[in-house]
Amino acid sequence: MKKMTEENLKAAFAGESQAHMKYLAFSRKAEAEGKPNVARLFAAASYAEQVHATAHLRVLKGVGGTADNLGAAMAGEAFEVEEMYPAYIAAADAQEEKAAKTAFHRAMDAEVVHHQLYSRAKQAVEAGRDAEIGPVWVCEACGHTVEGTEPPDQCPLCQARKDKYVRF
Ligand SMILES: [Fe+2]
Ligand SMILES: [Fe+2]
Repeated sequence: MKKMTEENLKAAFAGESQAHMKYLAFSRKAEAEGKPNVARLFAAASYAEQVHATAHLRVLKGVGGTADNLGAAMAGEAFEVEEMYPAYIAAADAQEEKAAKTAFHRAMDAEVVHHQLYSRAKQAVEAGRDAEIGPVWVCEACGHTVEGTEPPDQCPLCQARKDKYVRF
């Protein structure tokens, strides 16, 4: 693929992915404000942006086999844990931006767990098996991720209660 088109696809993938997330948040807000039709409109547009982002990623050949995808996912999580979030946290700290620092910290702590789970899964897939991963719980308030039969009584990152965990 020619360089400029590749860069344009990456930019379009990033933009559509962000629009997907933004419209989803706008949809929830409209729902909470008692505007279900606006919520539905945002939800539909959010889904369309997801379709566009997925198409761009496909043209970029960004989805490989599962073993390769786990490797790519691990590389992304490792970059976030080792370079990106530590630098972002240091900058937020220097600028006394407390809310940003907390948001970065919560994300970074969850990425460590994601990396561990992906690593285990990759070993299994490379050995020709599916991963032996039980229920995975995600705190809906902060994204804390944990594997186990039950979620913790309280989120260790944001102190949310047990019933805030979503099961996967
Ligand atoms: Fe992650
Ligand atoms: Fe949490």
